[in-house]
Amino acid sequence: MQEFVYNNSLLMGESVPLKSVAEEFGTPVYVYSRRSVLDHCRNIEKAFDGHPHLSCFAVKANANRDLLRLIGEEGFGADVGSIGELTIALAADIHPSKITFSGVGKRDDEIVAGIRAGIYAFNVESTEEIRLLDTIAGQEGKKARILLRINFDIDAGGHAYVSTSMKHNKFGIPAGKALEVLRWTQGLPNIEIRGLHSHIGSQITKAETFQRAARAIISLVQDITAAGIPVRDIDFGGGFGVQYRGYVTGPGIPAEESEEVNLSAATLIRDVLPLLRETHCRLSIQPGRSVVAHAGVLLVKVLYRKETDDRLFVVVDGGMNDLLRPSLYDAYHQIVPAELHGRPFEKADVVGPLCESGDFLALDRQIPRVERGEYLAVMCTGAYGYVLSSNYNSRPRPAEVLIDGTKCSLIRKRETIEQLFEG
Ligand SMILES: Cc1ncc(COP(=O)(O)O)c(C=O)c1O
Repeated sequence: MQEFVYNNSLLMGESVPLKSVAEEFGTPVYVYSRRSVLDHCRNIEKAFDGHPHLSCFAVKANANRDLLRLIGEEGFGADVGSIGELTIALAADIHPSKITFSGVGKRDDEIVAGIRAGIYAFNVESTEEIRLLDTIAGQEGKKARILLRINFDIDAGGHAYVSTSMKHNKFGIPAGKALEVLRWTQGLPNIEIRGLHSHIGSQITKAETFQRAARAIISLVQDITAAGIPVRDIDFGGGFGVQYRGYVTGPGIPAEESEEVNLSAATLIRDVLPLLRETHCRLSIQPGRSVVAHAGVLLVKVLYRKETDDRLFVVVDGGMNDLLRPSLYDAYHQIVPAELHGRPFEKADVVGPLCESGDFLALDRQIPRVERGEYLAVMCTGAYGYVLSSNYNSRPRPAEVLIDGTKCSLIRKRETIEQLFEG
C-alpha cells in the first residue's frame, strides 16, 4: 500500500528513486504509483464483501486519462461533473452504463452529451434542472434516469469549502422537500426516478459522520417508499478521508503526529454498509481522494534559500499554480527531501515562485536542511493536485509521470509556453 518509502537515503516510488524521475522529466512534476492506485481500488472493492454495488471514481479528483483507464480496469465506473470529465471518462473506456453525472450547474449541452452517451444516471439538484432534463430527454427520444441529491443538513467537519450538505450550501434538495419533488417528477414523461444521492463533503475522517448520513438516507427511503414511490438506488457519494500527516516515516525526517493513522475508505465503508444494506437498494459510491491521494507525489526543485530576520524561506519551482490545496484549504501536505543527507532539521516556509504571499506549500514546517538544486517531494498529492493547477503567472502546467515497478512513463506532457498563447 505504501509505495513511497526511503531506501537508504533515496525516496523511492515503487522501485524508482524519485530524484531520477525529477532529473529525467524536470520539475515540477506529478508522479504516481500504479501499484498504489490498484491497491486503493482493490481495498475499496473488498470492503463491500460481495454486496452488489458500483464504485464510481470521482473524476474531479484526478482526470488523467491513463489513471482513469487503470481505475476503470479495476471495475470502477466514473462520476463526472462536466462535459470535459464525461469525455475523458469515455476516452478511458469507462462504459456509459457505469457513469453518473453530478453537479449543481449542468449546462444544456452537458445534459445533451450525457443523454447521447447513454450514461447510467444524472444526480439532480433542483426542480429546474429536472424540468430541463425532461425536455432534453424528450427531444432526444430518450428517458433520463435520475437520483435526487438530498441535502441532509449534516456538518461533515473539516474545511467549510468541502462541506457540501449543510442547509446553507448550494447542493441538493432539502430532505423535507424530497417527497414533494419526487411526486412532481413522477408526472414528467421522460424521467425515470431511480433513487437518492447524498454526498456530504470531503476528507471526512469520522465513521459517526457517515453513519448519521446513512441513517438519514435510510429514513428518507422508508418515507418515500411508504408514499408509493419505489427507491431502487442509493448513491452514497464520496468523501472518505485519508492520512496526510506523517505519511512517510524514517530516521532522517521529522516525525509528524497524525490522528488519521489507520484511516481508510475501506473501514469507513464497512462502518456504514450494514446500515445501507437494510434498504435492499443498489448501492453506489463516488470515492475520489481515497483512491488516488496516496498514489501521487509532487516533485519540486529548490531554487533558493532566503533568510530574513525571523524566517527562513525555501523557495521552490512549484507553487499554488501547481498545487492549490495549501493556499485554498489550508491543507497540510508532508514535505520531505527526495534524497537525505543526514542534515539537521530547520523550520522553514516552503514557498512557490508566484507573486502572492498566499503562494506556499507549507508554513513554519520542520524539514531537513535542503540546498539549491535539491528536490523535495510533496506527499499525498494524487487527488485535487493536477486538476486544480492553473496557468497563473503564465506558468505551464506540470508533467505527469506514472511509475510501474522499475519503469516510468510520461502520462501527460508538460505544457509548453507556446500553448499559453496559441489562439
Ligand atoms: C458529488 C461528489 N461526489 C464525489 C466527490 C468526491 O469526494 P472525495 O474526493 O472526497 O471522495 C465529490 C467531491 O467533492 C463530489 O462533489
